[in-house]
Amino acid sequence: MSILKNISKDSPIGFFDSGVGGLTVLDKVKRLLPNENTIFFGDTLHVPYGEKTKEQLLKFAIPILDFFKQNNCKAVVMACNTTSSLIYEDIKDMHDFKIYPVVQSVAKIISEFKIKSLGVFATKATIESGAYEREIHKYNPNMKVYSQYCPQWVPIVENGIINLSESKCIIKSDLDKMLSKRPEKIILGCTHYPYLTGVLSEFTKNDLFIDPSTFLSEFIKSDLANNDLLTDSVSLGIDKFYCSSNPAKFEQSAQTFYKLDKEPELITF
Ligand code: DGL
Repeated sequence: MSILKNISKDSPIGFFDSGVGGLTVLDKVKRLLPNENTIFFGDTLHVPYGEKTKEQLLKFAIPILDFFKQNNCKAVVMACNTTSSLIYEDIKDMHDFKIYPVVQSVAKIISEFKIKSLGVFATKATIESGAYEREIHKYNPNMKVYSQYCPQWVPIVENGIINLSESKCIIKSDLDKMLSKRPEKIILGCTHYPYLTGVLSEFTKNDLFIDPSTFLSEFIKSDLANNDLLTDSVSLGIDKFYCSSNPAKFEQSAQTFYKLDKEPELITF
């Protein structure tokens, strides 16, 4: 990718998700690339994405990508497993910036783990798309993949009720179902789920879980470097936050994982 018209190394990187989940990806990327400018959009008006159809997700994504284009982004991170699984192929060539989808960007690395069985926790839409299984089996058809959706986990995170005993009961019951299959590792295949690692590790060992954004952030760093698109700036990058509904709730729910210094700006398309 050459440097495109109007895009410079200092142009921002866009991130989007249905809500606060994508901040788990932004956090990993900023740890590796603190000098990059970023723009984060959480589509809280339409959360949960995991219960939506492909057609609905496309309708939401098109204006979001246009927004990143207007903001001159040099790349966009699909910080959402659900959109990566369902609509990446449809939107990847719509603009001249590169789009990094979480599932496809990490599948090869995960397929090379020295394990025979893998659990995947994700949204209903991601699981029903079969995207993780398909992408991993492209590289390693022998890995056994156990997929399970957890429909309550996104609302628990978005509503900031992670530590309620009712929430912990739901999380434990979903976890037990997966543990009964004895996977060697479990992917947290929804960007909201890393908010729950504290609770999950009350019931089992923490190193069982894989957060794909660890590998996604490394992939983004090396790909931007290969395309000569990393900023040369030595000062800390500026992060701007937007959401499509209820900014106060967004800030509140985000804070167990990512402290914003002010509410995100409300923006609708
Ligand atoms: N965090 C998103 C994902 O990774 C979407 C969750 C949702 O809104 O259902 O799938």
